[in-house]
Amino acid sequence: MALDSKKIRKDFPILSRKINGRSLVYLDNAATTQKPKAILEKLKKHYEQSHANVHRGVYALAEEATSEFEGARKKIADFVGAKSPNEIIFTRNATEAVNLVAYSLAKKLKKGDRILTAVSEHHSNFVPWLRLAKESGLKLDIVKLTPTRDFNIRDFKSKLTRKTKLVAVAHVSNVSGYIYPVQKIAREAHKAGALVLVDGAQSAGHMPVDVKKIDCDFFAFSAHKMGGPSGAGALYGKKEILEKLEPFLSGGEMVREVSTKDASWNDAPWKFEAGTPNIEGAILWGEAIDYLKKIGMKNIERHEKELLKYALGKLKNLSFINLHGMTGSINRTSIISFNTKGVHPHDAATLLDRYGICVRAGHHCAQPFMRELGVPATLRASLWLYNTRREIDILISALRKVHRELA
Ligand code: ALA
Repeated sequence: MALDSKKIRKDFPILSRKINGRSLVYLDNAATTQKPKAILEKLKKHYEQSHANVHRGVYALAEEATSEFEGARKKIADFVGAKSPNEIIFTRNATEAVNLVAYSLAKKLKKGDRILTAVSEHHSNFVPWLRLAKESGLKLDIVKLTPTRDFNIRDFKSKLTRKTKLVAVAHVSNVSGYIYPVQKIAREAHKAGALVLVDGAQSAGHMPVDVKKIDCDFFAFSAHKMGGPSGAGALYGKKEILEKLEPFLSGGEMVREVSTKDASWNDAPWKFEAGTPNIEGAILWGEAIDYLKKIGMKNIERHEKELLKYALGKLKNLSFINLHGMTGSINRTSIISFNTKGVHPHDAATLLDRYGICVRAGHHCAQPFMRELGVPATLRASLWLYNTRREIDILISALRKVHRELA
């Protein structure tokens, strides 16, 4: 079903804002998405009617808050196809979810064990492994790119060994929008006896996700990149694996019994959730999921693919634009990285802002990937369900002006 953009845009109050006297053209959705009205209304309702701490009080209000909070966990679990809500651990963001695995796994790995990641990763799925390898005497292997700047499955297979204990890859690149063959990666990794972590920060709000189908052991994702609030993220982990992992943070609520000499842990997922959680963050995330489900993830995916095709068609006609990681493959979400010849990305982004256009300029927290692309920085336009062809036209016309003015 085609999305009714006009109707959807009305759900996002910020989209009617003017920036520098122009209508806002928000094309930085890979950094964070805008929020639907339903979230704002839910926040008001929660604070006005059901706010209390969770899992602690026996009074009705606390039970209501706990039930909303745990209800959100169920919505999130269902959204990514987890078998049970108990496979969802609340974190602050996808980065913290990856760090949780790194810290918890550190206790299980020994000197000489190997971790396999890719040069195209966001720093959040790269730096934790770099640190863990350095601090624990592990080896870090890094999958190269193909000539078309995608994940090199052949190189991956050649680097996968019996010593590889974890494979950590993105689902979708935050630079090129490339969709990694995560099912195939998981299959190969499991054959070699390795666990698999997928960083789903850039996929969860853009396409249907099924962790059972991917068969990953961990899946990290963030609410704010799918219409939810910032400060709320989650780690999906297979039940049997979470049960064996040691907690990451220690404190209240993650324990079963504490004496002056010892402590025992609560069950997963709560043993990984020390301290008061981001209660309203989780509840609002659940609301965002309800919103996305109403529109349909397949419809959102289709809308983005159509827009991507339209945008690439236009950008390819601009002789002064260098597109990065554009294979022509449809195996991509709507994240487009490019450079304007002779213009620094930061200058271009600053000028685009004058036309009300928000794009990200920089290394996108993926410096090893930038080095492979041979540039210090790129411009990045990233789309979502509320973007339109008209906005792409505005971007193209503004890029022509930027080039005329600065190149
Ligand atoms: N990870 C986000 C991005 O790629 C912030 O922009």
